[in-house]
Formats: sequence, C-alpha cells, structure tokens
Amino acid sequence: MTSSSQDSACVVEPGTAEDVGVVLTILGDTQTPFAVKGGGHTGNPGYSSTEAVQIAMYRFSEVTYDEDAQTATIGTGLIWDDVYTALAPHNVNVVGGRVTGVGVAGFTLGGGYSWLTNQHGLTIDTLTSLELVKPDGSVVNVTESSDSELFWALKGGLNNYGIVTRFTLNTFPQGQVWGGLITYAASVLDDVAAATAKFAAEVTDPKAAIITSANFLLAQPGVSQLLFYDGPNPPDGIFDDFLNISHFSQDVSTRAFLDLVKVAPANLTGNQRSFGLLVEGDSYLIPFCRGAFNTAPVQTLSTNIVNAMFNESLFWGTQLQSSTGSFISYDIEPFLPSHLSHNTSPSAWPPIRDTAFLPQCLYFAWVSSLEDEDFYDAMRQSVEQIQRVAIQEGQQGIDTAPPYTNYALFDTSAELIYGDSLPLMRSVKARIDPDNVMGLAGGIKI
Ligand SMILES: Cc1cc2nc3c(=O)[nH]c(=O)nc-3n(C[C@H](O)[C@H](O)[C@H](O)COP(=O)(O)OP(=O)(O)OC[C@H]3O[C@@H](n4cnc5c(N)ncnc54)[C@H](O)[C@@H]3O)c2cc1C
Ligand SMILES: *[C@@H]1O[C@H](CO)[C@@H](O)[C@H](O)[C@H]1NC(C)=O
Ligand SMILES: *[C@@H]1O[C@H](CO)[C@@H](O)[C@H](O)[C@H]1NC(C)=O
Ligand SMILES: *[C@@H]1O[C@H](CO)[C@@H](O)[C@H](O)[C@H]1NC(C)=O
Ligand SMILES: *[C@@H]1O[C@H](CO)[C@@H](O)[C@H](O)[C@H]1NC(C)=O
Repeated sequence: MTSSSQDSACVVEPGTAEDVGVVLTILGDTQTPFAVKGGGHTGNPGYSSTEAVQIAMYRFSEVTYDEDAQTATIGTGLIWDDVYTALAPHNVNVVGGRVTGVGVAGFTLGGGYSWLTNQHGLTIDTLTSLELVKPDGSVVNVTESSDSELFWALKGGLNNYGIVTRFTLNTFPQGQVWGGLITYAASVLDDVAAATAKFAAEVTDPKAAIITSANFLLAQPGVSQLLFYDGPNPPDGIFDDFLNISHFSQDVSTRAFLDLVKVAPANLTGNQRSFGLLVEGDSYLIPFCRGAFNTAPVQTLSTNIVNAMFNESLFWGTQLQSSTGSFISYDIEPFLPSHLSHNTSPSAWPPIRDTAFLPQCLYFAWVSSLEDEDFYDAMRQSVEQIQRVAIQEGQQGIDTAPPYTNYALFDTSAELIYGDSLPLMRSVKARIDPDNVMGLAGGIKI
C-alpha cells in the first residue's frame, strides 16, 4: 500500500547473517532508525518501510528440503509462492500463505494462518528452528532445546528480538488440491452469507477451508469466495451450497497447490503504485492505493456475526464512497475449534489457546492521504461493532480476545495482543536486547 511505503535514505541488502549482524551493530551504536523488510506485505506505516535505513532481506532466498528430517529451511527474503514452487517437485508443502505474494518473514513471526491450519496449526506451530541475528550482532540458531524462552518469544514476537535470516519448518505430503475463486453479485449476498454461516457451523473436515470476502467496490457490494480442499476431490456436500448459488465468475478445479494460491483476487506484489483486483469477473486497477487491515477476533462465526460482517461491508462501503474511490472488504475466515491444538511447544502469541478465537480480517483501501484518518477510524468503529454483536449474543472473552498480530491496525495495544505473555516476553527482551536496538525499528513494540 502506498500508505505504508516510504522512500529510504539508505537501503542495504545483506547476503549473510554475519553481515546483518554488522549492520545491526552500526545501527545500534549510532541510534539510527531502521526497518526490516521480508515480503513487505504489512499495511501498517513504518513497520517494514522507513525514511531512514531499510534492511531488505531479498538475498536470503534459500529453500532446502531435508527429506530425512521432513523439514524445509527457508530464507526470510522469500514470498510463499517461491517456497511452494521449490517444494512442489518433492510433493511436500509447508504451512504458509493462502494468496499470492505474501512474505515468509512477517507472516511466520506473527503466527501464520494457512489453508493447512485446521490440519497442522499455525505456521509457528510447525517451526523447529530459526536463525536469529541478535541485536548485539551475534548469530544463533534458536530451538526449543537451545533456548526455550527465546524460541517461545519469537513465535508471535515479530521483530522485537532481532532479525531472523531463516526458518526451519516441518513439511507435509502435498498432492493435488481442489478449489479456487467464485465471485458473486449483489443479488445473492444473503445466500452466500447463509452458506458461510452453515459451513462455519457444520463442516468438521479439517481438509476443508474457505474465505468469504464481503466486498464493496464502485458503489456495488459483491463477494469473492475462496474454496479449498486438501485433496483432488472434496467429499459430497461440503461446498454444494457455494457451488449452487448463481455466480458471476467461477474458477474452481482440481489443481496444484500453487495454482490455487495464485487464483486469489488481490495481487499486492511489486512496487507498482497501483494494484489489480478481480471483482465479479472483471479486473480493476486501483491507482495510488492506500490501505490497512484490522481484525475482530470472535469465538464463533454464528449466523449473527456473519450477517453483521456483511452488514458492515454494506454500511461502510456506502458511508465511505468518496469521489476518489475506495475498496471495502471483510474476510470471513472460519477455522475449526481445534485449530490451535496442533502445537508441540507453546508460543508467545496467541496468549490464549484453550479458546481458539477466529481472526476475522477487515481490509479497507482508498486513494487520498487526506482520507487516512476517516478510514482508520471507520475500521476501529467497525471492529467495535462486530465485537458488540458477539458480546450481545453471549460470546465469552471478546473484550480481551487477542487480535491477530498480522491483521491488527498499527495502534492496537501490545497489552491486548499479547495479554498474559507480555511479562515473560519483556524479560526475554531484557536479556536479548538490553539496549532496545530493535526499538529503532517500527512494529508492535512490547
Ligand atoms: C494480500 C495479503 C494476504 C494475506 N494473507 C494472509 C494469510 O493467509 N494468513 C496470515 O496469517 N496472514 C496473511 N496476511 C498478513 C501477513 O501475515 C502480514 O501482512 C505479514 O506482515 C506479511 O509478512 P511480510 O514478510 O510480507 O511483511 P513485511 O511487511 O516485510 O514485515 C512485517 C513485519 O515483520 C517484520 N520483519 C520482516 N522481516 C523480518 C525478519 N527477517 N526478522 C524480523 N522481523 C522481520 C517487519 O519489521 C515488520 O514489522 C496477508 C496480507 C496480505 C497483504
Ligand atoms: C544454524 O544451522 C544451520 C544448519 O541447520 C547451519 O548451517 C548454520 O551455520 C547454523 N548457524 C549458526 C549460527 O550456528
Ligand atoms: C446443489 O448441488 C448438488 C450437487 O451439485 C445438486 O445435486 C443439487 O440438486 C443442488 N441443489 C440445488 C437447490 O440447486
Ligand atoms: C503480481 O504482480 C507482480 C508485480 O507486478 C507480478 O510480477 C506478478 O507476476 C503478479 N502475480 C500474479 C499471480 O499475477
Ligand atoms: C449495520 O451496521 C450499522 C453500522 O455498524 C449498525 O448501526 C446497524 O445497526 C447494522 N444493522 C444491522 C441490521 O445489523
């Protein structure tokens, strides 16, 4: 997004962990603000962009598959598309991003919700080791057995502890998958909302997943519907409702995993100052696009909540129709109640696992910087509205539910995001980064 892209005074593209260490030491000694960029997909200003020194991780681009260990070691300059491409010949996969272009680094360090999350958990739940450049410039491999507290803190702790150069993740067998994108027009919104709520309530097959995006663009509501099944043929019944609703366009088939990832509508990759969007079968190019995510964690995607999210899309889409243009989207993402039970060791985020809150995603995009505050404000109000509906219908713990690190708007408090994890995160921080060198970089700060 242009609202989170800045021109840096200086850019460095280190190629070794040792060089990252030299860079960090200079930045710390001179107290120079900096940013670390993985895939650059955060929409929060100052997180991976800066007007000062940018450390771009592009050159950390290895993908090494270890067949004996059933792991893959991947560089933090990659996007998931690259990782899937490299692993496909081995018929294995990792738990990574669901649409094209998303970076490995921020995604993993924040948690990571995947098409495979119902089966294997978050990306951090599949992490066996990572290589960390500490703020003092030294390089260490961190594992559960080498330093369990630091390993715990890095799982969700983003850039608070140093710069990560590679991850080792568990791999899983991967064959052909089924799914793709359906777009629906305004006339069938109620049917899609009902099918979404029914899917969330009834489907227990961990290989099945959906994202229903209730969109508002060019004065029109519509839906982009992503369907996923981890196998060539989904069992009868699971997706029938979606397939039966009359659609505007449909691109659903048995295909390679990467092919499904590339079908998704938004391509935010690259440095072009616009992005392409496929809505209701047509492509639009939105110029000079500003934007952000925000998130409303809920306990269950009841019919009420799904309807409220569709209503919010209509409400804010209508409310914010400015002459310069906007795009409003609510991503409804059901996961099974068991999706956080696959971890073998604990993590700093989410601070609560016994209730598996679902990280619904708001995505607003607009054109003019003069409108920034209006849109950010609308996203905050809308999260409050969705959570009000959840509380009204009796969902527990909503006011303290931890927002997902990678969807939360920039001013979301670390207290809310990390909850009871904060005291230990802070004590690990005092040990690893006593001078708060990483405080010179933007992001959620503990
Ligand atoms: C189109 C789109 C689709 C998405 N889909 C999903 C999804 O399916 N599931 C999901 O969970 N999330 C998803 N996200 C959210 C995504 O997880 C975040 O945007 C995340 O920040 C992407 O990581 P990145 O490396 O591209 O980010 P960047 O913008 O490069 O970095 C984000 C943060 O991580 C820090 N960071 C980056 N590299 C390093 C490093 N090497 N060491 C330490 N800190 C580092 C940065 O300093 C910054 O604070 C999506 C986002 C977009 C825009
Ligand atoms: C981390 O482990 C990898 C092998 O998995 C090794 O190549 C690398 O040198 C190690 N780094 C450090 C700092 O020990
Ligand atoms: C829905 O789809 C199934 C399977 O494709 C089909 O058998 C059924 O008749 C359809 N129902 C309606 C109401 O269209
Ligand atoms: C997304 O856009 C980038 C930059 O323009 C381009 O290189 C890439 O091929 C596009 N990806 C897809 C899947 O269209
Ligand atoms: C729709 O959303 C608006 C704005 O949040 C709210 O005031 C209104 O009560 C909602 N309507 C319904 C039917 O939920």
